[in-house]
Amino acid sequence: MMNTSNMDPENINIITIDGPAGSGKSTIAKMLAKELGLIYIDTGAMYRALTLLALKNNIDLNDEKSILLAADKSILEFDNSVGDINKYTKVLLNGKDITLDIRSKKVGEAVSIVSKLSKIRKYLVKLQREMASKSPCVLEGRDTGSVVCPSAICKIYLTASIEERVKRREKQLCENNQLLSKEQIKCEIESRDRIDSSRQDSPLIVPDGSAVIDTSCMSINDVFSSIKKIYNGKINLYKKINHQV
Ligand code: DC
Repeated sequence: MMNTSNMDPENINIITIDGPAGSGKSTIAKMLAKELGLIYIDTGAMYRALTLLALKNNIDLNDEKSILLAADKSILEFDNSVGDINKYTKVLLNGKDITLDIRSKKVGEAVSIVSKLSKIRKYLVKLQREMASKSPCVLEGRDTGSVVCPSAICKIYLTASIEERVKRREKQLCENNQLLSKEQIKCEIESRDRIDSSRQDSPLIVPDGSAVIDTSCMSINDVFSSIKKIYNGKINLYKKINHQV
């Protein structure tokens, strides 16, 4: 039987995509946003931005109070419109474009520490909910269907085998001229998975009521079509319940 508990009209246009690194979340989230005319909220970029802020200010990565103080003194801006789906969400810090800086190796290594901190999560979840309440959107991350918007109409959990995720990450790094061996990439992904899934606050889980899709042997277009089918099914059910068809 279909779960109808997430049929709140406020969440009719919210899709959440969660899953581990390399599962294809961001590519799919941007494709969906573009096709359905939704905004794309890259929650990982927000954790990365606060991590960069901490590194730039030489703040201890575990010192959540000082990181938040620095955030309050800064102007962080996220451009949630989807232009080119191959590009990252544009992020500005005090007017300076930090879109590529937040993807550096240094930030990648530090972000799991910062994203474990409860006060940081509380601060960013509030911001993410505010953004989601303003426009129909696709939220992408590790806790968007479990914590940020559990009542979203369509919740997806993407996963893929470790081998496939390593292959995808290698390709992505190559495109950004960052070369790492397969072994190094595997270690990095496994370590991130461990930290993301075992942290106390909002660990990476399969959110209740989400559709789980293993993308290991699927093309991006196939994943996209499956999700669109699920989303359309939910919308049709919503309309039926509300006698709109
Ligand atoms: O998706 P990403 O690689 O840009 O995410 C960067 C880090 O942020 C990742 O290690 C996990 C963390 N993160 C999180 O804890 N919660 C989210 N909703 C999104 C990302």
